[in-house]
Amino acid sequence: MFYKINTYGCQMNVHESEKIAGILENLGYKATNEDSLADIILFNTCCIRENAEDKLFGNVGALKQLKKEKKDLIIAVVGCMTQQEGKASILRQKYPYVDIVLGTSNLEMLEDAINSIRRKKHIVSIVDPTMDADKTLPIYRTSYPNAWVNIMYGCNNFCTYCIVPYVRGRERSRKEVDILDDCKKLLDEGYREITLLGQNVDSYGSDLKGFNFSSLLYKVANLGGEYRVRFMTSHPKDFNDDTIAVISENENICKNIHLPVQSGSTAVLKAMNRKYTRESYLNIIDKIRKQMPECGITSDIMVGFPTETNEDYLDTLTLTEQVRFSNAFTFVYSPRVGTPAAKMVQIPDEIKKERVTKLVDLQNRISKEISLEYIGKTKEILVEDINPKYEGMVCGRTDSGRLVTFNGSSDLIGTFQNVKITHSQSSALFGEME
Ligand code: SAH
Ligand code: SF4
Ligand code: F3S
Repeated sequence: MFYKINTYGCQMNVHESEKIAGILENLGYKATNEDSLADIILFNTCCIRENAEDKLFGNVGALKQLKKEKKDLIIAVVGCMTQQEGKASILRQKYPYVDIVLGTSNLEMLEDAINSIRRKKHIVSIVDPTMDADKTLPIYRTSYPNAWVNIMYGCNNFCTYCIVPYVRGRERSRKEVDILDDCKKLLDEGYREITLLGQNVDSYGSDLKGFNFSSLLYKVANLGGEYRVRFMTSHPKDFNDDTIAVISENENICKNIHLPVQSGSTAVLKAMNRKYTRESYLNIIDKIRKQMPECGITSDIMVGFPTETNEDYLDTLTLTEQVRFSNAFTFVYSPRVGTPAAKMVQIPDEIKKERVTKLVDLQNRISKEISLEYIGKTKEILVEDINPKYEGMVCGRTDSGRLVTFNGSSDLIGTFQNVKITHSQSSALFGEME
C-alpha cells in the first residue's frame, strides 16, 4: 500500500505533512511519488493567496480519471483551505469523488476516516481550528538533518489581509517541557538542526504563565552536543532585545532571522494592522546589524495592498534598498474573503504587476550583490542533501541561511564541513570543501 502527499503552503504545512505521513506509515502505507501507484492521495492545502487555491482545484480535478479507473483509490483533502467557510461543501459538490475532507485541527481522525472509507463512507469533518496544543501525533520526518518542532499553533494578530487566524484559530503555545523533551529526543536520534515553528514565535508563552520565547530559545540551544537552532516566523512588533541578545550570545543559534516587513510605508502598515512603523522596523534591523554584522536577514514583502499609493510603494522600495535583505519572498496582495482588506477599494491588477516586477528586480540585484560578498570566505556548512542538479555535489546552509553547493557524496549528509565559497551563479553559491 502506497501514499502520496501533495503539500502546499508554508513550513507549518510541510511539518504537518510529516504528521500525516506518521499516521499513514503506522497504518502500513509507504511513500510514493507516483499517482498511479498510490492507494491514497492527500492534498495538504493552503489558502493564503488565490493562486494557491486555483492550483489545488486543478490538481484534484486532474485525478477524476484515475479515480474512475481505480475505484479503491482514496482521495483526501486536508489543511487550511478546508477550514475556510463553505469551502468543504464546495469541494464535496465539485469533486464528489473526494473521499475525506479534514480540517487543520482534526488530523488525528485520519486513521478512523481511512477505515470508514473501506466501508464505503465519505468523511467530511471540520472542527473549530482552536485545538488543544498539547495533542501529539506520530511524525514521519523527511528533512534530516533538520527537524521541525512546533512551539505554538494559530495566530492572534489579524493582519487585515491575512486568512491564517481564521483557518488556524487563536494562538496556543505548547508546554515548554514538551518542546524541550522533543528537542532532546531529536538530538539523541542524531538530528543536527532544530527549527522552531510558529506563525509568530516571539509571542510564544503569552498564553502560559512565566514563559517567553527568548528563554525557550536559550534552553533549546543549550541541550548539549553539536547542533544548530533556527526559528520562524518572527513578528517585528514582538521581536525584542532579549531575543537579539540570546541569538547573538549563543553560537549554535543561527544568525539568520526571517522578519517579514510586508511594507515600507507606515500608513500601509497601519492599514494592515501590523502594529509597527517603518522607523521601528529599521530600528530593529540596526540593532541586529550592530550586534551581529553577519546576520542574514530575510523578509516577506507585499505590494498592491488596497490603500497602497505610489508613494507608499516607493517607501517599500527604499526600505528594501536600505535594509538589503539577503533574500525576500515577494507577494502580490490577493483578497481573501472574510478579511477586512478584501472589503476595501482594490488596486488594479496591472499596477500590482508593475509594482511587483520592479520590486523583484531590485531584490534580485541585492541578493546577487550579497552573494558576491561570500566569495573567497570559508563558512561552516551543515550538509543537508545531495544536489540532484549536479552529479557528485551536495548542498547545505551557512549559519546565515545561504544554500551552498560543493563536491561531496551522500555520506556527508548530517555533518558540518568547512567550505570555501568559490563562485556564485545568479545568487546561488558554490564552493569547495576544505
Ligand atoms: N506568520 C507569518 C507568515 C504568514 S503567511 C507572518 O506574520 O509574517 C506568509 C506571507 O504571506 C506573509 O508574510 C505575507 O507576506 C503573505 N500573505 C499573507 N496573506 C496574503 C494575501 N492575502 N495576499 C498576498 N500575500 C499574503
Ligand atoms: Fe497572518 Fe499576520 Fe498572523 Fe502572520 S501575523 S499569520 S501575516 S495574521
Ligand atoms: Fe497557507 Fe495555512 Fe501556511 S494558509 S501559508 S498553509 S498556515
